[in-house]
Amino acid sequence: MSTEPFAAIYHQRTKYHPETINQGHAIDWSNPPDQFKEYAGAPRFELRPFLPTGESEDWQATVNLQDKEGPFSLPQLSKLLFATNGVTAMALSGGQKLLFRAAPSAGALYPTDLYLVVRNHADLPDGVFYYHVRDHALLEVYPEGLGPDGDELFRRLSAACFNDPAIAVADVALVATAVFWRSSWRYGDRAYRRCLLDTGHVLGNFDIIAPKLDLFVTATAGFVDHEVAELLAIPEDKEGALAVFSLHEVGEAEDIKPGPSARASSDVEPKPSDDAILGIHGASSIRRDSADKAVAHDREGEDFLLNPKYAFASGTKLKTSDTDLNEQIEIAILRRRSTRVLNREPLRLAELADLLAFAYRPDLSLPPEQQPRYFDTSLLETFLVVNSVQDLEPGVYHFAPNFMELLSVREGSVRNEIFHLALGQELARDASVVVVHTADLEAATKKYGSRAYRYLHLDAGHIGERLNVGAIRLELGVSGIGGFFDDEVNELLNIPEKELCVYITCLGRAQ
Ligand SMILES: Cc1cc2nc3c(=O)[nH]c(=O)nc-3n(C[C@H](O)[C@H](O)[C@H](O)COP(=O)(O)O)c2cc1C
Repeated sequence: MSTEPFAAIYHQRTKYHPETINQGHAIDWSNPPDQFKEYAGAPRFELRPFLPTGESEDWQATVNLQDKEGPFSLPQLSKLLFATNGVTAMALSGGQKLLFRAAPSAGALYPTDLYLVVRNHADLPDGVFYYHVRDHALLEVYPEGLGPDGDELFRRLSAACFNDPAIAVADVALVATAVFWRSSWRYGDRAYRRCLLDTGHVLGNFDIIAPKLDLFVTATAGFVDHEVAELLAIPEDKEGALAVFSLHEVGEAEDIKPGPSARASSDVEPKPSDDAILGIHGASSIRRDSADKAVAHDREGEDFLLNPKYAFASGTKLKTSDTDLNEQIEIAILRRRSTRVLNREPLRLAELADLLAFAYRPDLSLPPEQQPRYFDTSLLETFLVVNSVQDLEPGVYHFAPNFMELLSVREGSVRNEIFHLALGQELARDASVVVVHTADLEAATKKYGSRAYRYLHLDAGHIGERLNVGAIRLELGVSGIGGFFDDEVNELLNIPEKELCVYITCLGRAQ
């Protein structure tokens, strides 16, 4: 077996280079992927009657989060799922209806699906339910009477998550998966990166909306893959589970002890028949027969808020204003769209500070157990490419979230360079600030094996979604960028080869 973790091999293989970018994957336009799964004849539970919005024409301006029946009632689950991944916009193109969702997705291909596992519910039978996004309905995955009973479902789910005590006592759990082909149809082998980033965005919405609905949520992405896939009855050669959440009433938070959020993978070498995506998903899986190697991540002290490596000696301190972005943030989720054209106008320094504080230092008045549920943010670094911000010189900065501080790493405008490395996308050229997430892949895989690749992209997507929603809340423009010349990002940031660019987000003012 190769000593190099497959994540490093996959990453290398899926880099974009200026010389080869146009020789890549051919898109079969005659065979676009379905964006929804159908479960013919499955019992359905409609959530549409409980859409979370008001009656007004500007329906995205009002969201009714009122809770009369408890956080797990169908109206509340409807709001939770809608704001996490529901259809929030529609467009007609060539006579076809295009549906846009609460979370952004590379190429609007939407690989992420959500499943609920439920027991002891007033209005739902015990079971596993597929969230059908277009219909805003829950479809029962197991034919009636054939699935395990509720206690067995939760016993198996918590066992798959290394006996996670929070899952063992929950009555509702949520699992996020990715259907690989939806994204690989267009992006070929590189699609696994986008599946993870897209799913991270969906989780970002979930994490913002859950506390607003009086829910306390625990998260893990360290589980025995096959056992979770089997429970959801998903085809493992097409779809993979990426994250498991247990849901509880907020008042129970003190008594719930979540298990580790991340664990190391078994790193079994891909089979010769595996394509690159099945290869990386398989290599980053945790297997039952080597589960004893799945070393757990101890969250304590590892969060990037506390990480001492960010203690820069001196830098530019960012000062936030009094704006509370958390207030009515749910409206921003429903209104969110990716900005298509930015206009180069400068951001104010306080806007940038407020947005970064919202994205990285979520409501510190909340207790630690109610902070966002990342997998391991200690692996991520953030750089800001500043094109145009009032009172801040253009250049490249390293950002220290714990001190809200910027350390200059390169002086002078790099507008042309960022434009080029973002595949010549004008969004990057015309952004006021481009946020670049990077990580030391060698260190990350030392800790978690190839599974680190999942955590890096899920967490970067999650922060990316906080940047998206926060920007919309501040009436700024924003868009993710998943396509970039990888090695040129390293050159621009002056970081070594073992480090990788995970994700890019453009911020600015909309045209
Ligand atoms: C991971 C990811 C990568 C993306 N990459 C790009 C990109 O390279 N260029 C771009 O213009 N938009 C990009 N987008 C934005 C999507 O095109 C957009 O989310 C999608 O068209 C849906 O539209 P909406 O965000 O307005 O709902 C990306 C979004 C995500 C989540």
